[in-house]
Amino acid sequence: MLIDTHCHLDFPDYDADRNEVISRAKKNGVEYLINIGSSLKGSRDSAALAKQFNNIYAACGIHPHDADAITDPDLEEIQSLSAGDKVVAIGEIGLDYFKNFSQPENQLKLFRKLNRLAKDMNLPVIIHCREAEKDVLQVLKEEAPVRAVVHCFSGNSQFLRSCLDLGFFVSFTCNITYKKAQLLRDVLKLVPFERLMLETDAPFLPPQDLRGKRNEPMHVKGLCAEVAKIKGVTFAEVERATTANAIEFFQIK
Ligand code: NI
Repeated sequence: MLIDTHCHLDFPDYDADRNEVISRAKKNGVEYLINIGSSLKGSRDSAALAKQFNNIYAACGIHPHDADAITDPDLEEIQSLSAGDKVVAIGEIGLDYFKNFSQPENQLKLFRKLNRLAKDMNLPVIIHCREAEKDVLQVLKEEAPVRAVVHCFSGNSQFLRSCLDLGFFVSFTCNITYKKAQLLRDVLKLVPFERLMLETDAPFLPPQDLRGKRNEPMHVKGLCAEVAKIKGVTFAEVERATTANAIEFFQIK
């Protein structure tokens, strides 16, 4: 049994065939999906998907891209959504200095507020970090989340070391299959199994042989095989470790 710990099935990319996508995941051994809200609407839709489907759990959060526009009532809504039965994390939240769609100071403010909200709700956080390693570490050191996962890990070995030292988990996507991703594969080799999770970030980042197409949660299976190859272990070992980590991290019952 595998778990896709980060997908966005609320996106319109799946409007035509969402049910098929979910059943294809199951057929491929991807038993549970954590659907991640990355906006206020996404968080509402994510919580609704978790209500609708037995095997879907939700995270609610606001992407740093939206930081300039977020109001206090928006945050209150995130808080009330996150009290839902199957809402298992606050995310995705973080800092993105690569695109800088919102002012860095607003991103920082929002990131801190959402970390505090997560702590109030006793929920773990799912971190988006792009070219903002130093500030992400600083904020998380100060806010001390109950648990944290750095999603779509794309940092170097030094950033990995810092994340592991702080007790964080890291999750990897199908971008480890890309031809130019050798550095990322080298970093993956350094990740201890007890801190590793798998995700697709679907619809983004499809595996190498499907580039340009839509990704979907069933591809966690291929991802698991690829991780096993890179780390020189069996599929079953990666499956067992990453699934146990996800169940514990998200407290899936
Ligand atoms: Ni995402």
